[in-house]
Amino acid sequence: MDVQPRSPVVPRSPVTAAEVAATRRPVVEASLLPPRVFHDPAVLDFEQAAWFGRDWVFVARSEDVDRPGRYVQVEVAGQPLVVIRGEDDVVRAFHNVCRHRGALICTEPAGRIVRFQCPYHAWTYELDGRLRRASHTDTLVDFDTADYGLVPARAAEWQGLVFVSLDPDAPDLHETLAGLWRHIDRFPLADLRRAHRIEYDVDANWKVIGENYSECYHCPGVHPQLNKLTPYDLGQNIESDGPWCGGWMELRPDFDTMSVDGLRHGRPPLPGITTEDERRIYYFLVWPNLLLSLHPDYLMTHQVWPVAPGRSKVICEWSFHPDTMATDGFDPSDAVDFWDLTNRQDWEVCELQQRGTASPAYTPGRYALMEDMVHAFDVMLADGYAQDGVDSRFTPRHDKWRQPVGSGGRGR
Ligand code: FES
Ligand SMILES: [Fe+2]
Repeated sequence: MDVQPRSPVVPRSPVTAAEVAATRRPVVEASLLPPRVFHDPAVLDFEQAAWFGRDWVFVARSEDVDRPGRYVQVEVAGQPLVVIRGEDDVVRAFHNVCRHRGALICTEPAGRIVRFQCPYHAWTYELDGRLRRASHTDTLVDFDTADYGLVPARAAEWQGLVFVSLDPDAPDLHETLAGLWRHIDRFPLADLRRAHRIEYDVDANWKVIGENYSECYHCPGVHPQLNKLTPYDLGQNIESDGPWCGGWMELRPDFDTMSVDGLRHGRPPLPGITTEDERRIYYFLVWPNLLLSLHPDYLMTHQVWPVAPGRSKVICEWSFHPDTMATDGFDPSDAVDFWDLTNRQDWEVCELQQRGTASPAYTPGRYALMEDMVHAFDVMLADGYAQDGVDSRFTPRHDKWRQPVGSGGRGR
């Protein structure tokens, strides 16, 4: 029978509302998350099933599926999927599972095909998932190829990025991110093209990485190079109305981007951005696994994937305007090297947090005055664990307790 995906059942959270009550208090009163959320396999199982297995997750760039038949394999919450662009230019996602005896169909990480063909008994499927041919099935009783198409998942493109949701009832992605887009809609993100990609293996829980991204309290000590370009206390958080949190940091006057020497090396600012944007780096954590960092001349994204409670895969990509990439001598290495160093500095302290929070001596600490975006992320997590329907509204601290210099900054 044709398989219509149903909303995945939401598993019961192993973390109670009482356990995260202290995190859900206003930031000046709140405590950090209970440490077991970084270590307990049952918590990760829940997060995979309830969040990665239902919410929109960032899986690829649109350019990875830039023409009909181009596909990438992705794994979401342990489920093998294939994302592919159809003849009609629509990006779709399917479970990468044959409807005959269940073999995986696409076996290469990426490629281009005219139609799907299962490597086992060669059932073939159209790019839109319809079963095209299943040999030696013509006299089967009660068998209609229309009932045996590939099982779809939801896919959507947003500003050159591809997201997938395993929940047919997930709210529209564009509506979900409309509030974020209002803050950055000048940026020509969909036009940008990837210049570099690095995959990291980090011995830390995926949430440790999200927390680390959400503050610059650690920047003076951990990132002396970054702190020289954007002082850790110069920036502002943005009030969020959706599953994202973030803000911006300001470049010192001598510098004009994030690169090894703080200069753009002849790269013009992205078309359409304001002179104010040219002095800023915007950082957004988009629930659950996208870190979006907008620079005057390029976009950096991180995909953060849980692998085990104490291990994550992080894919970092740098994207530039195609006109800039087409210029003679284009070389993104000043930006790539800068962030590769910064990333590795971050992974090191993330791994220290992962190890330290495993100690029974650790009890949840307090948020420092510059960690209100860490709190914003943790509140999303805590609400998700609590399963009590309460949406703990987050208001950036600078709205209530404006600091003399910015709000306390954020970012890396
Ligand atoms: S398992 Fe795919 S054709 Fe048999
Ligand atoms: Fe950092």
